[in-house]
Amino acid sequence: MTSTLLRTLTAPSSSLRVSRYSILFARQASTMTPQLKDPSLFKQNVCYVNGEWVAAKSGKTFEVHDPSTGDLVGTAPEFTSQDTESAIRAAADAFPSFRTQTGRQRSKLLRAWYDLMVANSEDIAKLITWENGKPLADAKGEATYAANFFEWFSEEAPRIYGDTINSSVPANRILTYKEPIGVCGLITPWNFPAAMITRKVAPALAAGCTVVCKAPGETPFTALALAELAHRAGIPKGVVNVVTALDNTPEVGETLTTSDTVRKVSFTGSTNVGKLLMKQSSGSLKKLSMELGGNAPLIVFDDADLETAVTGAIASKFRSSGQTCVCANRIYVQSGIYDQFVQRFTEKVKGFKVGNGFDENNTHGPLIHGRAVSKVDQHVRDAEKKGGKVLVGGQKLPDLGDNFFQPTVIRDMTGDMAIASEETFGPVAGLFPFRTEEEVIKLANQTEVGLAGYFFAQNMERVYRVAEALDVGMIGVNTGIISDPASPFGGVKHSGFGREGSKYGIEEYQVVKTFTFGGMGKPLQS
Ligand code: SIN
Repeated sequence: MTSTLLRTLTAPSSSLRVSRYSILFARQASTMTPQLKDPSLFKQNVCYVNGEWVAAKSGKTFEVHDPSTGDLVGTAPEFTSQDTESAIRAAADAFPSFRTQTGRQRSKLLRAWYDLMVANSEDIAKLITWENGKPLADAKGEATYAANFFEWFSEEAPRIYGDTINSSVPANRILTYKEPIGVCGLITPWNFPAAMITRKVAPALAAGCTVVCKAPGETPFTALALAELAHRAGIPKGVVNVVTALDNTPEVGETLTTSDTVRKVSFTGSTNVGKLLMKQSSGSLKKLSMELGGNAPLIVFDDADLETAVTGAIASKFRSSGQTCVCANRIYVQSGIYDQFVQRFTEKVKGFKVGNGFDENNTHGPLIHGRAVSKVDQHVRDAEKKGGKVLVGGQKLPDLGDNFFQPTVIRDMTGDMAIASEETFGPVAGLFPFRTEEEVIKLANQTEVGLAGYFFAQNMERVYRVAEALDVGMIGVNTGIISDPASPFGGVKHSGFGREGSKYGIEEYQVVKTFTFGGMGKPLQS
């Protein structure tokens, strides 16, 4: 059971926690570093600015802890506003030259970065598991998902087209160019330490922009490893800058959003922070993309294929232990299939194994930190108090560590419970019964956010009707997984705006410039 873990970790935890892991770790040496094939990918105390590795000017650093064990992963620079401004300047200096590279040249750079990510994907995955906690198999999936954004946008870079437009004025001719917007500030979350960065950086570079990427304080080391690979790929200096901060995160965010040099900010994170960043950006009238919170409804109709629905709901709900903004948050099941669904779904969840992500037997890892565990616990207690029946899980797992919570299934959920209106961001599946299509559409749309929604049904009329009625940016029909670099990702309402990935993703980093030529209408003299 522990052979992979023993192979993967060179060292032990100082923790004396009584668990199967503490026994394992106690037998090992004094640090707990995953053995990277290429240890130089693990960058501590430095950020990547203007093609160089630099410390914070103050010399301050912050600690990053493994969410599974609580042990120190390493320390990263606590960048200030001043440090961030140097990164913005580097990106601004690099822009005039980078924008003149041809799409084909930029494509080759992205392709080189992609190849390096693929070649180093095992190390990237280990870094993800180490600082985020997700099981290594999921982390490998994320490393591939992340690299695929480079591949996708390396293919888009040479294919940037404008229009020719018939003018209303006979003597005029109109054409448009799509130009890179300029320096971009990219602010990314911890739940996909690699993929949320590549999903923003790849289209920005494909368009000809230069970037300052603010990596999350919880998971900076994956971001810094990606920066090292950018360097090796030959990305010109200043084109990609990666900065880190924990306590100074609001200060760095403010610097990026208020700077007149930064022409675009793309943010993935909570709705509240998104609104604040948007407010801060108003003074410089920046272009924005906001990929914010969700509260995804997942609906199972009586005519659904039961196994497809159960598999899809499990995949959507428990991916990354429920810590994605597209995870199903409210699972509505029609009365005719409710009991059967509850039974099959619960059986599957009983098969989950929770623990350290480096142990290949574990299907689910820890949550990111104690605050996440408290929220999940509150949601479960609230549902229980209001009549929900916990069928599996429902408790913290202190023997495994501070950040573990049992995958949980609750039946007989009702609309007055917190899960009905708040995003749980954890491994709790609340199963709400419903009777009619009309009723469930109303319930599904009764939220201020609208990122993803899912439903399972076979009747084609219903499929179209429901897909059109759900007020979300992305819909999974008979599937619980919708993430794909080829597919536009983004929400409506308080889930934000802008689309990432797909052919639309690059437009977020472009401006349309219109050329109008006058005096062109004279016919040729024959
Ligand atoms: C997110 O949680 O923000 C992204 C999830 C995904 O790309 O699938």
